[in-house]
Amino acid sequence: MVLPKSILVPIAALSYCSSFVAAYVFTGHTTDARQFAISKSEPLLYEHDGTTWYKTSTRPVGDLGDWINLEKALAFQYLLDNIAPNGVNTEGCAAGTVIASPSKDHPNYFYQWIRDAGITVQGVIDEYAKSEDLELRDIIDRYADLQGEIQGTFNPSGGFSTGGLGEPKFMVNGAPFAGSWARPQRDGPALRALTLMSFIRVVNQTHPELVTLQWISRLYNPDLAAKSIVKSDLEYVSHHWDAIGFDLWEEIQDSHFFTALVQHKALVQGRDLALSLGDHGAASWYDDQQVALRDFIKTGFWDGRNGRLKAYKHTPHRTGLDCSIMLGSIHGGQNDLYAPWSEEVLASTQLFINQMQNLYPINKKKPPYYPEDERLRGVGIGRYAEDIYDGVRTSEGNPWFLCTSSVSNVFYTAITHFIDEGEFRITRINRPFFNRLHPSGRAGLGRVSSGDPDFRNYLQAMFTYADSFLNVIRYHAKADGRLSEQFDRYDGFQRGAHDLTWSYGSFLMAVDKRQTARGMLFGSEY
Ligand code: NOJ
Ligand code: NOJ
Repeated sequence: MVLPKSILVPIAALSYCSSFVAAYVFTGHTTDARQFAISKSEPLLYEHDGTTWYKTSTRPVGDLGDWINLEKALAFQYLLDNIAPNGVNTEGCAAGTVIASPSKDHPNYFYQWIRDAGITVQGVIDEYAKSEDLELRDIIDRYADLQGEIQGTFNPSGGFSTGGLGEPKFMVNGAPFAGSWARPQRDGPALRALTLMSFIRVVNQTHPELVTLQWISRLYNPDLAAKSIVKSDLEYVSHHWDAIGFDLWEEIQDSHFFTALVQHKALVQGRDLALSLGDHGAASWYDDQQVALRDFIKTGFWDGRNGRLKAYKHTPHRTGLDCSIMLGSIHGGQNDLYAPWSEEVLASTQLFINQMQNLYPINKKKPPYYPEDERLRGVGIGRYAEDIYDGVRTSEGNPWFLCTSSVSNVFYTAITHFIDEGEFRITRINRPFFNRLHPSGRAGLGRVSSGDPDFRNYLQAMFTYADSFLNVIRYHAKADGRLSEQFDRYDGFQRGAHDLTWSYGSFLMAVDKRQTARGMLFGSEY
């Protein structure tokens, strides 16, 4: 067996550290030895049945790819503009601060949200993993340092061990925000822990020599009193996951699908990390908690009668279809728990799209340069149907860039997974989604495997469908590539905070997933 490269490199002689590398590399990074009919290097052969699929399942929108290439570079630059100390929009910010947006009034988003920052820095880590650019690693290091300080800052949610980690947003200099707010929001510590655990993995793979005891202790130290960042977050999550709190949209106090899913993933990864660092007591505590939380998720958010997930446990005045289902799956989904390709997530996404399509007038019009068939036409996606936040105050909700990207992300991720598996299944649950892809509107139930021509037909249709949501973003992006938070439900003009960091981050993540899916479907030359 060939050992992953990083394992062979001797690192710090300290016992918990070296056992960490061995164990940690092996938990999530082994390659699956099963042979699939289709491998990543061979694009799927194009076959069609000569009748129904032909017109709609050809290659994706030609020039979308060109626009994506331009937009990718711009979006990453605009994202970095919002991170201190070097970002041009970050005057007065503590180093490592990720501002939500440079907008200082109508609305004032010149703060650091723990959620937005965690998700954004995850994107920076993904870039760092590809480029190994030291400037990016420096950004991540400064983010981590600042988060450590923020964790220790007494704030309106409490102190370090009395709930303060659930505080959702801070001033840009790292001071607590004293005004009234929807607090606590319990997704923040989980997202931060996931981001920093991903940093540990990436550094361990790219520069194992850096993974010294001192380096890792700042992030994870088995000694609670050391207040290391990831361990503190895992303690918070493991002790508070069953308490209600505000949702990611900062509006509703309840138990939330998004929050629970990212918490669960943090506990699973936290367990593995603790184990590999010899922190056995913690590992078994995190494991017990993830088992209980998993059960809570499985029993709490599936609405079997309507065949879809719901974003909140006890919020009857909303349908429960919500972009946070897609976001929860993207950031917290796991192989056997509501991953983007799961039947529940695909069904819920499709039902949510249907709702959004009818809700916003702008979604009824077919914009120019949309060659897609009507049934595969993407639309602007908002947070949830009942939303009345217009980006500045409350009137009527609008579609959001980050929500529109998240639909594409789910579909691209599912395409890659289905090709990896060499099959997918059309079930009673996910049929609303596959119906949308099928030219007749009626998908047959059962297994579709890679030898079957329909396998490719479905996946190509899925790719076109995913692309057409990015086409919506393209249509509403500014000429210089800038993205705000929302675009108007009537006229499509950008609304809400300009240059929303998260809009850029979610676009970049979707495009990353697209690249992988595209390579597998069409080959790398495409
Ligand atoms: C600001 C929050 O950030 C947003 O999510 C919410 O919808 C509005 N306030 C309205 O309550
Ligand atoms: C409002 C959004 O609802 C919330 O999710 C986000 O954290 C803040 N704006 C800052 O971007």
